[in-house]
Parts: sequence; structure tokens; C-alpha cells
Amino acid sequence: MSTPVLTAVAWPYANGPRHIGHVSGFGVPSDVFSRYMRMAGHRVLMVSGTDEHGTPISVQADKENLTARELADKYNRVIAEDLQGLGLSYDLFTRTTTGNHYKVVQDLFMALWRNGYIVPKTQMGAISPSTGRTLPDRYIEGTCPICGYDGARGDQCDNCGNQLDPADLINPKSRINGETPKFVETEHLFLDLPAFTETLGSWLSTRTEWRPNVLKFSQNLLDDLRPRAMTRDLDWGVPVPLDGWRDAPMKRFYVWFDAVIGYLSASVEWARRTGDADAWKEFWTPDAQGYYFMGKDNIVFHSLIWPALLLGQNGAGDKGGEPGAFGTLNLPTEVVSSEFLTMSGSKFSTSRGTVIYVRDFLRDFGPDTLRYFISVAGPENQDTDFTWEEFVRRTNFELANEWGNLVNRSVSMAHKNVGAIPTPTALTGEDIALREQARAAFGVVGDNLRRSRFKAAASEAMRVVSAANKYLSDQEPWKRKDDPERRDTILHTALQVVSDANTLLTPFLPHAAQKVHEALGGTGVWSAQPRIDEVTDLDVPERAYPILTGDYAAEQAKWESVDIEVGRPLAKPSPLFAKLDAELGDTGPEWAPIAP
Ligand code: MF3
Ligand code: ZN
Repeated sequence: MSTPVLTAVAWPYANGPRHIGHVSGFGVPSDVFSRYMRMAGHRVLMVSGTDEHGTPISVQADKENLTARELADKYNRVIAEDLQGLGLSYDLFTRTTTGNHYKVVQDLFMALWRNGYIVPKTQMGAISPSTGRTLPDRYIEGTCPICGYDGARGDQCDNCGNQLDPADLINPKSRINGETPKFVETEHLFLDLPAFTETLGSWLSTRTEWRPNVLKFSQNLLDDLRPRAMTRDLDWGVPVPLDGWRDAPMKRFYVWFDAVIGYLSASVEWARRTGDADAWKEFWTPDAQGYYFMGKDNIVFHSLIWPALLLGQNGAGDKGGEPGAFGTLNLPTEVVSSEFLTMSGSKFSTSRGTVIYVRDFLRDFGPDTLRYFISVAGPENQDTDFTWEEFVRRTNFELANEWGNLVNRSVSMAHKNVGAIPTPTALTGEDIALREQARAAFGVVGDNLRRSRFKAAASEAMRVVSAANKYLSDQEPWKRKDDPERRDTILHTALQVVSDANTLLTPFLPHAAQKVHEALGGTGVWSAQPRIDEVTDLDVPERAYPILTGDYAAEQAKWESVDIEVGRPLAKPSPLFAKLDAELGDTGPEWAPIAP
């Protein structure tokens, strides 16, 4: 049974290169899931792009002395390369500064507006006197009016824990440049979140498959939904398509408003680029499934705000309405959120220098070691420390000693003794038991992958690898010189299980899987990889940008055990994973040394 599956991957801010904390949240989990779903026969559309508007971009642009657009151009490319290097199989990785995105955001807004889910309100806002830009609450610092703590932020005091309003702070200062903000009256457009309390509540109560922490967190927020501003006083963002707003130089949509709509706009852009402009619809009808992948700081935007925007567009919030330009759009099937990957107990931080960039990592250790580490030892259910020691241990003992060695010794022996995949004769109980174990793993591993239980899935797959290693040690094919029939049966059984284990590990280790496919005498593309295409903006022809895309439908990997072909020639294999120097675990690499 094939279902259209939308894999919606959180959009990284185009404000710097990605570090391994970022990709452990949105990147690797979404790709392992998508690769599995394709192998299982589903039609998958995996979309994302760089998130390029709002304060995070403006602030970094000022630091680098670039315009916001120049900064976005720079890091859009850097990030696309980071993600390609990791082998993340996006159908489209685009950006939020395209003409297509602007149009989709504005069209979706108009449906919300017509259905009455947007309310204008006037409030006091902080402005930087030197730039004229709004200062978001968390960029203002001052003395807490309640406890007197000096470092309170405009949104809350970390000392006494009270929620604050920036206008309450004594002696408020901008954290960006130290100046005193100006408070002015300003009109904004608010999403009427309370008008979704009922519909969001009953929808959430049907989401029983979600990770419990994500569901509980979202349900708790339902009790106190307040209108939320969807516009900002800022010059960098999508313009608001209403009279009086359209040409206002300092009124733009809030970056999170435009970014979440990116899931839809990227689907539309993908369709337009395939030549069938309606092709996106299949992935957005209520018969499709939509899985959203992100770090935990993004949950509220995906479990409440984005569903509210969809319901409002559909005319299906508590106040009803008519479907907008996009018809009836599907709500998330599941919001899959990861906890944080930490280092020595705290979040990766560029400013504190505790950061491991994807680029450096890939250069020295390749993509699959990181993909495996994140899958099997990453922050799936709780904040998890990255340590070099654990990385070295997993790479050396599990990837090199267990998996690499199994492939190497079984292919080498068959190559040396037969030069091809050997012919099996009568199977013993041990042969049958191992083959059965491998075959049965497809159900268990697949079920875990479908439910984004990556640790359990990877561990189950590795159990097959260990069983095959034990089988070889017990059966000792190298001691069967005088019984070549038995030797060949053992080698055939081992190679069959190598082939099965390779399929089971393909979602985690797609690059290594291609090599194993070839080591077993296979040709052509086993697991497809993304490529970067340079394209022209579909609506603004003078702009060009890189996208990630790929031909994944053509790959051979399918989620099933395939009988290996007797007589297929085998060459001498080369090692699958290089063993790391144990010292790396104590010192870290030069470019990310462990503090003594
Ligand atoms: N840029 C945000 C972050 O890095 C994520 C945006 S996800 C989307 O935290 F939903 F807005 F697309
Ligand atoms: Zn306080």
C-alpha cells in the first residue's frame, strides 16, 4: 500500500554554517525516515530550505557588514553544501527569498484574513533609535523590576523566572549595540489563536502516535492561547498584501509566519519545477501523510501555530470560513521533535567556541559515521552529550569491527575461494536460523523507522550484523578446505545476510550501502544521493540560486530481502570504515580540541 508522504524538514536560518547539533535535530532523522519510506514503496516528497528573513538574519548581516540579502545568499549556499555532504535526500531544498515563496505566503495570508482569523491591534514596541528596526523582546536587557537582577531579558527574568514585558525593565538596553530602545505605538496583525482552541484541541487528541513529550507540551499550551503578532516593524521580510501595509517600508511578516508556510511553498516550487504545477496537491490532501522534523525549540510553531494557519486557510477553525486558494490542506500527521545534542552538558554555541561544524566533520570522518552516531546515540528522547570518546567507540567497534569486518571477511573469503558468489547446497539449522533472523528484521526495523524510533531501529539492524559475525566464528568456513560444499554454503549464507543487513542499514548509511552493493557485485545506483543544481528563480528571472534535489525514484534499494545471485563475480573488497585513532577520543581533533 503506497501512501504519499510529505517529509517537512525544519528550515535552518541562513546565518552561519551548520554544526552537528543542528543536523541532529532536523537533518539526519528526517533523511533516515525518508529513505526508509521510499524503500518501503511510498511516494515521498522531502522539502525544506534556508530560513532567510527576520532578526536572526539582520543581526548577523550587521555583524558581517553585509546586507541581509548578501548574508542570505552566502549561507544559503554554505548550508546547501553542508546538507548535500551529509547525503540528505531532499526533493527540493530551496530558500524563503524566492518569488514563489512570497506569493504563496501572501495567498495563504489572504485566506486567513478573509476568514477573519487575523486581527489588527496596536501595542507598544521597542525600536532601535540608530537603525529604526524593532528590537525583539529577547534582544533587550535590563534590571528586573521584581527581583532587581541586572541581566533580565525583555521576555523574562532568568533569576526570578517571571515573565516580563520589555517596557517594564529598569534601564533597558539593546543587547545588540547597548543603546537605549525607544518605545513607540505600533499596529500589528495578530493571528487569533484563541479562535482555534476547540479545533486544535480535538485534533491534538487524535495524535496518539506522537512522542509523549511533544504531545503533552502542545496540549498544555492549549489552556492559554493568546493572539500572536504575525507582523514586525522590520524592513527584511515578506510584505503584507493589504492596502496601507503593502508599501510600508517597515512592516513585514514575522519570520516564523513566512517560514512555516515554506513547507507549502517549497512543495509548490517543486511541482512547478517538475513541469506539473499541480503535482504538490497529492502530498497535501487529507489522504496524504505529513511528518515534520525539528529540534525541540521549534515544537510550538509546528504543533500549534502551523496547524492553526492551515485550519484558518481551510476555513476550519472555531469560526469556520471558506477554503482559500490552496483548497483543504492536510494537518501534520506527526511532529517529530528531537531534544538537544549538547557538549559538556550545554548547547552547542558558536560564541562560546563549543561547536563542531558539519563541514569539518565531513572532511575528516565522512558522512556515514556522523549519521550513524546521531541515529544510534543522538538526542532522540533526551538531551544527549556528544563526546569524541563515544564517537570513536561507536565508529571503531560498531561500524569498523562489526559491520565493516563482516562485509570484508565474507566477501574476501568468497573472492579468494570461488571468485564469485558461491553455490549453496543443503542448509543446516544454523544457516536457516541466521537467514530467518535477517528476514524477520525487516518487519521490526521497518516498524521502528516508520515511527521514527531510530535508536531501536539501528540497534535491531546491528543485531543481525552481530549474529552473522557469531555465525562465521562458529562455522569457521576457513577450516573447511576438505569440504568445499559446506564452505560454500556457509559463505553463501553469510553473503545473503550481508546483503540483507546492508538493506536494513541503507537508511542510516546510504554511502556505505552503495559500496557494499558494489562489493557484492551489484551495479548501478543502490542508494541515491542529492545533487546541487543552479536554477533561476521561477518568478524573478534575474535571480539564481542553488537547490538540492535528486533522482531518488531510480534507486534500487527496496525494503525487502533479495536473493543474491549465485555466480556473480566478486572482487577483492576494500575496507568500508577506517578505524579511528583511539587518542582522538581523549583529545578531539585539532579543529575542535577537548578542553583539558
Ligand atoms: N529557522 C528556524 C530555526 O532554525 C526553524 C524554522 S522551521 C520552519 O530554529 F518551520 F519555520 F520552517
Ligand atoms: Zn527577576
